[in-house]
Order: sequence, then C-alpha cells, then structure tokens
Amino acid sequence: MTAVGIDAIEIWTGNLKLDLPGTFAPEKGEDPEKYTKGLGLNASSFPDSYEDIVTMGANAAHRLMERKGLEPDDIGRIDVATESSFDNSKPVSTYVAGCLEQVYDGDFHHANKGERKFACIAGTQSLDDAYNWIRAGRHRGRSALVIATDTALYARGDAGEATQGAGAVAMLISEDPDLVELSTEQGYGSADETDFLKPNQQFPSVDGKRSVQVYLARMREALEDYESVAGDVHPDDLAYIPFHTPFPGMVRKAGLLGYRHITRETSLEDDLADEIGRQPREEAFDDEDAFRDALREYMDALKGTDQYREWYAETIEPTLSLSREVGNWYTGSVHLARVSALKTALEADRELTGETLLVGSYGSGAQAEIHAETVKSGWKDEIAALNIDEQLEDRYDMSWADYEEVHDVHNHEMDVDVEEFTTPEAEFVFDGWGRMGERK
Ligand code: CAA
Repeated sequence: MTAVGIDAIEIWTGNLKLDLPGTFAPEKGEDPEKYTKGLGLNASSFPDSYEDIVTMGANAAHRLMERKGLEPDDIGRIDVATESSFDNSKPVSTYVAGCLEQVYDGDFHHANKGERKFACIAGTQSLDDAYNWIRAGRHRGRSALVIATDTALYARGDAGEATQGAGAVAMLISEDPDLVELSTEQGYGSADETDFLKPNQQFPSVDGKRSVQVYLARMREALEDYESVAGDVHPDDLAYIPFHTPFPGMVRKAGLLGYRHITRETSLEDDLADEIGRQPREEAFDDEDAFRDALREYMDALKGTDQYREWYAETIEPTLSLSREVGNWYTGSVHLARVSALKTALEADRELTGETLLVGSYGSGAQAEIHAETVKSGWKDEIAALNIDEQLEDRYDMSWADYEEVHDVHNHEMDVDVEEFTTPEAEFVFDGWGRMGERK
C-alpha cells in the first residue's frame, strides 16, 4: 500500500509577542512562575492589526507552496480547520485561495474547498479527511492542503487569558510523503460536553478546571480505543508523543496519564510496583472516592520516579518548545507540537527515520483522537527548511498598553483602529472587508 501522510509543513506566527512573566504577570499581580513553571509558558503570539486567520493561513500556505515548487494545479483540495471562523456561509479556505490566486498564474477552480470545525481537533480531522480522499483514489494525483489557523483569544480577565496565542500551520498531504506517514488505525474518545463553547460569540465561555478533566477523560478513552485496534503500545516503541497543547502544564498531566496507561499490565508495571506500589485498579475499590484518592497517590508517586522523569524528558518535553513561546494555537497546536519534537531531534542530531510518533489530538466539546505516524527519510530537510526561529525572534514585544489596544482591535464587538506595530514584508495583509488579501 502506498504511504500517505504529511509531505511538508510550514508555520506562520502572529507578528506580536506578549511576555508572560515580564509583562502579563506584574499587571495581574501574580508570581511570574505561575506562568513559566505552572502553565509552562514564556510568551504568547498575537496578530498585528493587519493580520487575521486568513492572512496567517495564506502566508503559511504560500511559504509551503513556494518551498515545494507547487502551482495551484498541484492541489486538489484545500481544507481550513479553525474555531475562529467569521463567515457562516462560505469556508475560510475560499478566502485563503483568493489570497494565493493573487500570486500564482493559475487558480484553484478545480479544487474542493472546505472548512472543518470541532474546536482544536479540527486540524487533525482535516488531515484524516485528506488521507481518506487520497486513499479512496479520488485525488487524481493531486495533493491536499490542510491549514489550521486560529486567533485563540479569551475575554479580558478570563483565566484563559494567560494561554492565548495566534498562528497558522499549513500541511501538504500526499502520497509518498517526505515528513511522516499516517497510520490507518485511530482511536477515539468522544462525548457531548459544555465546558468550553462559543455559541455565536467570539470569546469562549470556559469552565477551565473542568475542561482539564474532560481533556484527560477523552484522551484516556482514545488511548484505550486505539489499543483495541492497533494492539498494546509500549513506551519504548515511541520516539515522541505530541499532544494537543493548550498550555504545556496540560501536557504534563496528559503525559502522566499516557505513561500510566501504557505501562499498565506490562513488565514495567512490576518494576514500578516495588518502588511505589501497584497501580490501583478501579474494580478493587467499592467506593469511587477511595479509588480516586488511591489513583492520585499513585500518580504523585509515579511522577517522582527516575524511570518516569527520564521518559518524560525524552518523549514529551521536546514537543513543548514552540508552544512555550507562542501559547495556544487551537487547531494548529498539536501540529506545532509535532514540529517542536522533530526540530529538537534535528538540533540534537538524532536520527528518526522509521521511528514512531503517537499523536494525541483533542478538541473541546469534546473529542480526542490517537493515531500513530512513521517518520520518513525526508524529515531532516523538511524541518531544516523552517524559519520559525527567525519569525519568533522578529516579533514585536508588546507593552501592557499595546496589548490592551491589540486585544480591542481583534475584539469583534469593538470598532477600534490602531497603527501597525510591525511592517508587513512580502506577506498577505488584512485591509478591511472586501480588500482582504492584498499583498504588500
Ligand atoms: N509557581 C509555580 N506553579 C504555580 C504557581 C507558582 N507561583 N502558581 C500557580 N502554579 C501552578 C498551579 O499549581 C497549577 O498547576 P497544576 O494544575 O499542576 O496544579 C498551574 O500553575 C496553573 O495555576 P491555576 O490552576 O491556579 O491557574 P488558573 O486557575 O488561573 O488557570 C486554567 C488555569 C483554568 C487551565 C486556565 O488557564 C484556563 O481556563 N485555560 C483555558 C482553558 C484550557 O486551556 N483548558 C485546557 C483543556 S481544554 C483544551 O485543551 C481545549 C483548548 O485548547 C482550550
């Protein structure tokens, strides 16, 4: 069977930066370590006044097409995954295609365009759609462009304000991919939940603490479901586990859950048993509270073992490096985590070809998906071609007053105009309704 997967990836960050320990923490009267150590974030990316989900998505897609030498005729499908959509009729992909058509001779009249919405998991769902389209043989030799783009803003004063972010990830899905091959097996955990939602409103209504529990519950179910089709996973089989990363502190909890799950009923459990006691089994407890207490005690002890710490440092920590600097990108976040891991491996001169990534995607509302990916031989060239370090370095560092203005500019209920903080360079810009996508 021909391999299908991600052939290339490109990233576009919002051009502004909010320093969390330096600028946000003093204004909130909080200890900076709440952000750096607790949530695991150093900074957030924000869009300048001329940026939005369309410009960021189009800029990422344009970089990708240029780098891979593609023309519109090479693309048979464009899907945008976003939870920041502004048009209830036509998909954001039509706006992105409109931008791209300004710089190519050909157009995308032949391409199937769509928009996927299921909170942050929609990026992975679009990958799955593209994979299925190619596998079904409907692609006529063309590739799919999947763009995950979001401005993840919260209302001022909301607890989520510290985890904001903005950026886009563009991915090319093809046969014989250079970066990673997707597995056919997937596991799901899905339930109707109301801990994070935006019914006809821009900023989410969030029960933050509950949202953390819902994330973990759905992820556990997805892991179990994945193993029911792909067989048991062993920690040594995995190079990295990129999880959806609303903030790195969330992934600390997901990593612990994952480790507990995949060491269950393996010889590793016996190794750990002497050190911290056997993993509590739900059926051994009559009372739910007693089970929960025993589990919490077990997890706390597990965190302290050298075995777990080493595994976490090697398998999870490398997935978090970009997220720490940009915050939550919603649909793009898990795809940024994959890039962080591969980038860390490249910088450490680690060979990854043929190794396995287990990807844990999540969307509020709520659904988790687990699938595996195999790293392909072109991964080094693909990751070396990214300019994300320069993009992060070039961001304008906002003062608190700048941040307040920028938040208002991107608040759809306010009509505020501010000067640009950065100068757009060879990129698509938002210049008002109807003139979107002009290239400066
Ligand atoms: N030094 C070190 N650590 C500190 C600290 C300090 N001085 N002060 C606090 N901390 C730690 C806390 O102990 C806590 O860590 P643990 O969870 O490991 O105990 C962490 O910092 C955060 O502190 P709080 O829990 O007090 O933070 P908070 O209540 O202000 O906000 C939150 C946390 C509720 C998750 C909030 O960020 C939020 O609402 N975020 C938006 C919702 C979200 O991201 N949910 C995640 C799951 S849903 C999802 O994934 C979808 C999505 O993308 C949104």
